[in-house]
Amino acid sequence: MEVKTINQQLLTDVLNGLTHRPKYLESKYFYDDEGSRIFQQIMQMPEYYLTNSEYDIFDRKPEEILQWFSFGNNPVDIIELGAGDGFKTRVLLRHFMNKEADMRYMPVDISEEANRRLLAAAQKELPGLYIKPYTGDFFDVLPQIQMIDNRRKVFMFLGSSIGNFDQQDAVRFFKHIGQFMNKEDLLFTGFDMKKDPAIVLPAYDDPHGYTAAFNLNLLKRINRELDADFDVSAFKHYATYNPVSGEAKSYLISKKTQKVSIGVTDQTIHFDNWEPIFMEVSQKYDEDMIRKLANDSHFSLLHNVADEKHYFMNSLWRKNII
Ligand code: AVJ
Repeated sequence: MEVKTINQQLLTDVLNGLTHRPKYLESKYFYDDEGSRIFQQIMQMPEYYLTNSEYDIFDRKPEEILQWFSFGNNPVDIIELGAGDGFKTRVLLRHFMNKEADMRYMPVDISEEANRRLLAAAQKELPGLYIKPYTGDFFDVLPQIQMIDNRRKVFMFLGSSIGNFDQQDAVRFFKHIGQFMNKEDLLFTGFDMKKDPAIVLPAYDDPHGYTAAFNLNLLKRINRELDADFDVSAFKHYATYNPVSGEAKSYLISKKTQKVSIGVTDQTIHFDNWEPIFMEVSQKYDEDMIRKLANDSHFSLLHNVADEKHYFMNSLWRKNII
């Protein structure tokens, strides 16, 4: 018989979310190996402008960014939080290598498979690069990284990953990261900007069905890991964008009255007809919101850099010295 160890944190978070009103699930759980694969497909669809926009910044402004990171020509360690496939980052790293920057690359990702693929791609495309991937939760890995030595570290949190946090959690997240930063270290974050809703919505509202699959995959994960019995065909994906708050939100909506049991406990979850589960927020920012987020998190904003269309912005921060 197969012996499974239960992911207790997943169980706690799923039960908390599904017994809450309104129901919710945490989008950080999207990224099991299958979820990471579906996210690759999302990033490749033409409507998902975020990838190209950040790529455009790295492709057009690498000199500037290298100057900021290395303060001229000083050694720097690049710590990429939630690296995924690391494709865009390699554009930047290639340029840094061409400039013979004294640089090391430490990608951190929760998915073992994503890290393996990233390592293979980086070794192939960027021979000679020092690369050391870390697999695990950021806050389990950061204490090790902080101890390596005292070269300047730039912590990168790209691709609008921060968009998955509400404002309060974003502040909490950056303050927490700040605790693992030494005073010379920098933080480089990608923000998706507020823009024409007709551009934002199709990135999530799903011309190819990938976003629905991405959301439904979390129900499948819960079935597999918590021995639940979600009928994924009885839920539909629904996406919205609020141009005032800048929140793009997605939901899975129960198409009927139904019960779902979570096998590893004796809990049964009841769904009303058309009852939603809130799945994800993808927060869009403006410059004032970015500056406020930096200040509230005890950082100073050093530089912003945007793509040509001003769809996306990378922002470089330094920790405030108290
Ligand atoms: C990985 C958080 C940047 O919110 O745009 C893509 C995740 N969700 N499509 C985003 C996502 C649905 C993505 N981030």
